[in-house]
Amino acid sequence: MSCPCSQTTLLRRVALCCVVVSRFAGFFFVYYKPDISFPSFDVDMKRDNRSKQHANATDVQEDAEPDTVVLIWMWPFGFKLNLNCDAHNFKRCVLTADKSLYDEAHGVLIHHRDIRGDNLPKDPRPWFQKWVWFNMESPTNTQQVPHIDELFNLTCSYRLESNIPVPYGHLEPRASGEETFQVPPKDKLVCWIVSNWNPNLIRVQFYNELKKHVNITVYGGAFGKPTSEEEYDHIVSSCKFYLAFENSVHKDYISDKLYRPLMLGTIPVTLGPTRQNYEDHVPGDSFIHVHDFPTAKQLADRLLYLDRNDTEYMKYFDWTKKYKVERAAFGTTHACKTCAYLQQHRGYEASRNLKEWFWG
Ligand SMILES: *[C@@H]1O[C@H](CO)[C@@H](O)[C@H](O)[C@H]1NC(C)=O
Ligand SMILES: *[C@@H]1O[C@H](CO)[C@@H](O)[C@H](O)[C@H]1NC(C)=O
Ligand SMILES: *[C@@H]1O[C@H](CO)[C@@H](O)[C@H](O)[C@H]1NC(C)=O
Ligand SMILES: *[C@@H]1O[C@H](CO)[C@@H](O)[C@H](O)[C@H]1NC(C)=O
Ligand SMILES: *[C@@H]1O[C@H](CO)[C@@H](O)[C@H](O)[C@H]1NC(C)=O
Repeated sequence: MSCPCSQTTLLRRVALCCVVVSRFAGFFFVYYKPDISFPSFDVDMKRDNRSKQHANATDVQEDAEPDTVVLIWMWPFGFKLNLNCDAHNFKRCVLTADKSLYDEAHGVLIHHRDIRGDNLPKDPRPWFQKWVWFNMESPTNTQQVPHIDELFNLTCSYRLESNIPVPYGHLEPRASGEETFQVPPKDKLVCWIVSNWNPNLIRVQFYNELKKHVNITVYGGAFGKPTSEEEYDHIVSSCKFYLAFENSVHKDYISDKLYRPLMLGTIPVTLGPTRQNYEDHVPGDSFIHVHDFPTAKQLADRLLYLDRNDTEYMKYFDWTKKYKVERAAFGTTHACKTCAYLQQHRGYEASRNLKEWFWG
């Protein structure tokens, strides 16, 4: 049964149909490319224009693909970052700290520890834009901030179950031509550098027990011997063992305290999450875990034994034949990985309850 007004309705439908088809065809010809391309936002024109100004001849072809813009909303801890992803070999990433590019930014990277008062973006969020919560401190050392639980689309932290996980370090395969790693000469047995002394911390209690059984050479502000960055490398590499004791115990919270000794050719003695969790990150035979022994005395005995038996000591460096340590560049690695993530995940991503996820 047809409606009495069918003539006009039909005409309208046909007209509408034509419009839709022609729009689609136009869209298709303008935007079709053989590979998947980023959804086109109305800012593409401007952005293409901008990148063309800088482009070299070889870049021009690629240039049809719009860049992914990551806005660093605040310098983390006030440190200016190197805004360049070349070291990561990520293409088509524009990292910027220019807040006037807010409306173009596909991602806004917000460092938790620098959130205060009302210093978050106030303009409406473009529909395609994702806010990224960035934090490398453990829950114990991260103050909760009210009213931010539902703000962020993505998390970027040391935690492996972050949307954008950035551990403090990771192991990369060694290239075949690369020189083999040389364990540096040692003149100390066990060392520890610590600036923040708090007798309530597990690490201090463990140290007090361990030092009864083995000599520990100590440095750092806590012992009235502040240590510069240059001194750090020199000291740590000259010790057979280094106490890689984290300030707090949380899953995946494995900081430079592990990765720097590994890099310098010193065996880390780890206190932090479980051995199993460490083994999610680095080979099980690259470190000694305080829980490997029922008592601090037995741990000390093992260290003293390894001091006497070089064959056994050197086994802890077998991994260096295959791998080398790469450390994350604070802030820059996070921004670059955010860019790569955004390029690979272009759909909607709901915020998660941050409080429950991080502190819960
Ligand atoms: C592109 O850049 C030129 C100069 O660099 C400028 O004059 C022009 O207005 C820009 N076009 C758009 C669409 O932003
Ligand atoms: C253009 O190429 C030159 C030489 O190959 C290089 O030094 C320069 O950094 C390139 N510029 C850009 C914007 O890629
Ligand atoms: C620590 O070293 C001193 C001498 O440097 C030595 O007398 C002492 O026995 C050592 N203590 C332990 C527990 O090895
Ligand atoms: C050192 O350890 C090896 C096993 O790796 C053993 O064969 C050797 O007897 C040990 N040497 C000493 C002095 O304990
Ligand atoms: C990001 O999260 C906010 C808040 O939940 C939401 O309104 C917005 O649509 C999300 N954006 C994207 C691109 O997923």
